[in-house]
Amino acid sequence: MEITLKSPAEIEGMRVAGRLAAQVLEMIKPHVKAGVSTLQLDEIMQDYIENEQHAISACLGYHGYPRCTCISVNEEVCHGIPSPARHLHPGDIVNIDVTVIKDGFHGDTSMMFIIGGTTTTMARNLCHCAQESLYAGIKAVGPGRNLTAVGAAISKIVRPYGFSIVRDYCGHGIGRGFHEDPQVLHYPNDASVILEPGMTFTIEPMINGGTYKCKVNNKNGWTVTTRDKLPSAQYEHTILITEDGVEVLTLREGENFPRYLRTRQ
Ligand code: MF3
Ligand code: CO
Ligand code: CO
Repeated sequence: MEITLKSPAEIEGMRVAGRLAAQVLEMIKPHVKAGVSTLQLDEIMQDYIENEQHAISACLGYHGYPRCTCISVNEEVCHGIPSPARHLHPGDIVNIDVTVIKDGFHGDTSMMFIIGGTTTTMARNLCHCAQESLYAGIKAVGPGRNLTAVGAAISKIVRPYGFSIVRDYCGHGIGRGFHEDPQVLHYPNDASVILEPGMTFTIEPMINGGTYKCKVNNKNGWTVTTRDKLPSAQYEHTILITEDGVEVLTLREGENFPRYLRTRQ
């Protein structure tokens, strides 16, 4: 396993890519409402990425993936393929996952939207739990810390809710590559990696309302759903290990979390 340490110039490239990915989510927010199809949302984001940001989607064509973004609704865990037939309804919970490439560097981030602002108690709690667990994972990392702290911190948040943590998909190193080493496990584990300044990776916990077990759609080969059809929620950020802590490269405007955290021990 080889983890690349980014140079100052590469870190600047990662900051730019991360900012662009976050801006796609900021831009799409007012469009995510009842009646719109997930394909319409994807097309708005593709136009923005290509024609405003002069960037490209990392997903389009990735191992044959057919669209620009992943949009996963309710029981869909991840890799929902935007479709003209999937219209959003009040109470749906929707994850939009965007990965852009700018000047060779990747920025990868996702967030949840609640259509119409209200949903079931379980779905609302899932969204909240997924975001809190991402934040706990970010607070757990820094130079000299062990990557195993991420899964421990996430699990500490999720356990009291009674929800489960998806095991089949994980966070990942990111840079010039979309999915680099290390794998970032979101559940308790002993995959020891001592973190160093210059490492960039994602944390992207997927939290299920019922069983952690998942199933890949056997018609399209991509879309992952929960086995029990109960809802799932996910948040994702791309982060940088700094000399004294962590920097969130995909922080959104108005997001209630610091960009820089001092976490060195
Ligand atoms: N953005 C996803 C991740 O967080 C990967 C999507 S790959 C795709 O790693 F091909 F499905 F788009
Ligand atoms: Co990712
Ligand atoms: Co992603």
